[in-house]
Amino acid sequence: MDLLRSFVTETERFVVAHRGASGTAPENTMASFQNALADGARMIELDVQLTSGNEVIVFHDDVLGRTTNGQGQVRTQSLNDLQKLDAGSWFSPEFVNERIPTLEQALDYLHDKAFVNIEIKPPKESDFRLRLEKVLETVFAATMETKTLFSSFHHRTLRELKERYPLLHTAAINVPGDKRLPSELSRETGCEGFVCSIHELTQKRIDDAKAHDIYIGVYTINRKDQFDKAYKMGVKALVTNFPANIAQWMGEAEGLS
Ligand code: G3P
Ligand code: MG
Repeated sequence: MDLLRSFVTETERFVVAHRGASGTAPENTMASFQNALADGARMIELDVQLTSGNEVIVFHDDVLGRTTNGQGQVRTQSLNDLQKLDAGSWFSPEFVNERIPTLEQALDYLHDKAFVNIEIKPPKESDFRLRLEKVLETVFAATMETKTLFSSFHHRTLRELKERYPLLHTAAINVPGDKRLPSELSRETGCEGFVCSIHELTQKRIDDAKAHDIYIGVYTINRKDQFDKAYKMGVKALVTNFPANIAQWMGEAEGLS
C-alpha cells in the first residue's frame, strides 16, 4: 500500500482522469484510458458494475442506453453479451470498435502506467458484499492493490473494505446534501481521502480535512474558473474529463511552463 500512500503524501496536487479522458474519448473505455495516459494523468478514475455472472466491468450507469447501443439493466446481462455492444459510437463514430472493458482488462492495461481510482457504484443493498468481494478479488489478482484508491458514495462498502484490509486506501465520496465534514466521514469509514463536487467545495471542508490529515479530491474540474477555485483552495486530486487542460493550467499556475 506504500506506493499510493507515498505518492499522495509527496505530491502536492495531481490530475485524475474522470472515467478516463472522457472529454476526448468515450468514458470508461480503453480509448479514454489511452488518452488519459497520453495527457499525463497520474491517476485514472473508473466506475465498476457487476454482470449477471458476477464479473466486474468498467461501466458507470446501471443501464446500458446512454453509453452503448444496448438496452436494459447491466446487472441482468452476461459478459459475453455486454462485450458485443458498441460502447463508442454514442460519443463519435470513430470509436465504433470500443467495447466495455472488464476491470481485469483495464487493470492489466494500466499496470505500471498509472494509479487507479476504482469507484464502486452504489449497489443494491443486498448486493454490496458480493460487489466488494469481486472487486477486491480482481484488484489482488492484478497485483494492483498498492496502486488503487477505492472510492464510493456507499460508505458501508468502504467501512467493510477497511475492516478487512486496513492498509488499502479509500476515499469517501460526499453524498449530495450530506453536510458532514471530511473528518466525520473518515471516522465512520476509515478513509484517507474525501471527494466532493466542485459545488460542494467549501473552506470549512478544506480546513477540516487539513486539520485531520485527510486529502481532498474534487470532481469535475473542466473549466478554468473551476480549476482556479480548486487550485487556490489547495485541492490535491483534481478530477477532470480533460487531463491535458488541467496539466497545462497547473504548469502555468506553478510557473513551470
Ligand atoms: O469520483 C468522482 C465522480 O466520479 C463521482 O461521480 O457520477 O462521475 O461517478 P460519477
Ligand atoms: Mg465515478
